Parts: sequence; structure tokens; C-alpha cells
Amino acid sequence: MITKIIKIENEFEREKIKEVASALRDGKLVVFPTETVYGLGGNGLNEDALKNIYVAKGRPSDNPLILHIADLDMLDTLVRDIPKDAKLLIDKFWPGPLTLIFNRKSIVPDRATGGLDTVAIRMPSDKVAHAILKEAKVPVAAPSANLSGKPSPTSTAHVIEDLDGRVDYIVDSTRSFVGIESTVVDMTVNPPMILRPGYITYEDLKSVIPDVCYDNTTIDKDDKSVPKSPGQKYRHYAPSANCYTYVGDVNLVRDKIKEEINKNKDKKICVIATDRVLKEIEEDVLKLSLGSGEDLLDASHNLFYNLRVADDNDVDIIFCEGFEQVGLGVGIMNRLTKASSGNVTVLGGKKWEN
Ligand code: TXA
Ligand code: MG
Repeated sequence: MITKIIKIENEFEREKIKEVASALRDGKLVVFPTETVYGLGGNGLNEDALKNIYVAKGRPSDNPLILHIADLDMLDTLVRDIPKDAKLLIDKFWPGPLTLIFNRKSIVPDRATGGLDTVAIRMPSDKVAHAILKEAKVPVAAPSANLSGKPSPTSTAHVIEDLDGRVDYIVDSTRSFVGIESTVVDMTVNPPMILRPGYITYEDLKSVIPDVCYDNTTIDKDDKSVPKSPGQKYRHYAPSANCYTYVGDVNLVRDKIKEEINKNKDKKICVIATDRVLKEIEEDVLKLSLGSGEDLLDASHNLFYNLRVADDNDVDIIFCEGFEQVGLGVGIMNRLTKASSGNVTVLGGKKWEN
């Protein structure tokens, strides 16, 4: 298949937006940008398009998709009821990086939900995404636009690496500003439960729903029960190199990483950390920044991007700086724990906060 790469810089490029929106409506596959990560979109009501999404990604068919919408009228056509708490979250956080799980109407194909009675819905805030979805006039099913098992892509170049030749269109746009996937909250259980942590934090959600809770497997790496969200049970987001994450006081993290670099002199090493740590590392290693350390958004924005760069450089080992499990730190550590296959070490004897 020849993939058409189409540059859309903003929501005012009407002709191009119409072109990709009508392709989506007609059952074609279109990768589009969102504020979290790029999505591999297809018409959420079209069986063939849904089947093709799973094929293009190499994704197991029991892992359900998120339907992306541009307005609340469309939500009513897809879900049986909108609980009061969901209405409050929608008012406060949509459009934005928050996915909500509802009981689905029968119009939603089994193939979109992996046969579940529930459906995940999200209204992205990215302006180009919004314009495409509005014009498509159908719900757009879109998993992250990576091959299964690779980190979610946050730039067009990373999408092209995985999906050139496997989809009809790739929209070439800016880097995703959040950099990790949306927060997923199940609104069909009482109290509502966070199935995947993200930019909309536990604290944000709690300010609206005081009793909101976590699926414990998303925050406790030692909890081996089956995650409530099908997608969380797969080994995700993992680079090819062995990856180790260290959390704790910055000085301890820096010293530990330096010690590990010296123990592994025969290996090609990458360090992914904040500038506070990187500036002290004189050894000849690939250094990739998670920002100054003052704003966790810099870390989430650069995390998957850097894991991909490390992979592209064929490094043998990646040492990462981790973060306290507070606010956006929870979502970042959820991804880092997976990328590190659980090799997360807390330094200084301090308990890993959450
Ligand atoms: O930020 C995002 O959410 C991105 C962008 C493209 O919007 N999309 C994304 O999709 O991350 P995906 O398919 O990679 O992740 C969807 C997650 C999976 O973990 C899946 O298991 C879960 O949502 N999910 C979908 N429907 C569900 C349902 N009915 N019940 C429980 N979990 C569900
Ligand atoms: Mg994904």
C-alpha cells in the first residue's frame, strides 16, 4: 500500500482536512495527531476499517479501541447512559486527554470493543484532530499509531518508522505535547476507577469525584493481579535495549547511574534523565533530556520520544531517572515501569510514594 503523507499545520487547512476526513468516512486508515500521542484512525462503525486497524498495528483483537468524537451529540448515539459523575468530568476535562468508559449501545461494533459491553470514548483537544473528527462525522476508532509492542509515537517521523506502507494516510503535524496516552477512567463501576494514569491526574479527578480510585495494578509494580483494562496486560512501550529506572534524591540517582555506566563500559549506553542528572555525566554515553526537572510535563513530553531515539541508536542498555508517584509522576512511572520490565529501584531507602 502506498501511504500518502499529508502536512496539516493547523485547523484552517480546510481542503486537506476534508480529504482525510472523507477518507476516514470511506473506511480508509488515517494516522492523525492528538495532544497525547498520534492515533491510527479508522471509521469506528465500519467493520472492515476496524479489522484493518488491528492488522496494521499487529494488535491482539481482544484489546478494545477508543472511539474519538468531536461533539457531545455523537456521545449520545454511542452510549446507553451518561452517569452524573461522567457529566461532571466531561464538563471539566473535555475536550482533553481523558478517556471515559461507558455502557455501549448496540450500534457500536463488537470489533471496536473486543466484545465487551462497554466502550471507551475520548474527545481530543488537539485542533487538527478536532477539525478532522468534526468533518468525518463518524466516531473514529484510534489506538496509538505504533506497531504493537513499540512505544506510542509522538512525532510524525516515529509514525512513519512504524506505519509507512501500512495505512492510507499519515497526517504530518507537530509533536504531541503531553507525550503519553490519555488517562482512562471506567465510569461503569462504583466508585469510578482509573484504569490508566495520564496527564489528567488522580488529584484532578478527585477534585470532581472525591471517591475515585485506582486499579491498583497501574500504580503498584508488585501487584500481579490481572489489570482491569485489557490493554494494560500486554508488555507495552518496551524498547529493545535493557532498561533500568532509578527513583529518589537527584544526587543518589546521578551517582547510581554513573556507577552503572562504569560497570558496563563494554556496552553502548543511553541515559534518559533530567538536565540536573545529565549535566554531571561526563562519560561518553548517549544523553537524552527529560527537561530541567522543574516541570513533569517536560518529562512526559519527551519520554516516549527519547525511548524511540534510544532504540534507533541501537543502544544495549538504557538508564532512566524516575519520579515520585504524585500528579503526572504516576502516569510517567506507569510507562517507565513497563519500559523497564519492572526494573525500578528506589534509592535511599525511601518508600516509593503514591
Ligand atoms: O491518548 C490516547 O488515548 C491515544 C490517542 C490516540 O487518543 N489512544 C490510545 O489508544 O492510547 P490505545 O488503543 O493504545 O489504548 C486504549 C486503552 C487500552 O489499554 C485498552 O485496553 C483500553 O484503553 N480500553 C479501551 N476500551 C476499553 C474498555 N471498554 N474497557 C476497559 N479498557 C478499555
Ligand atoms: Mg497503545
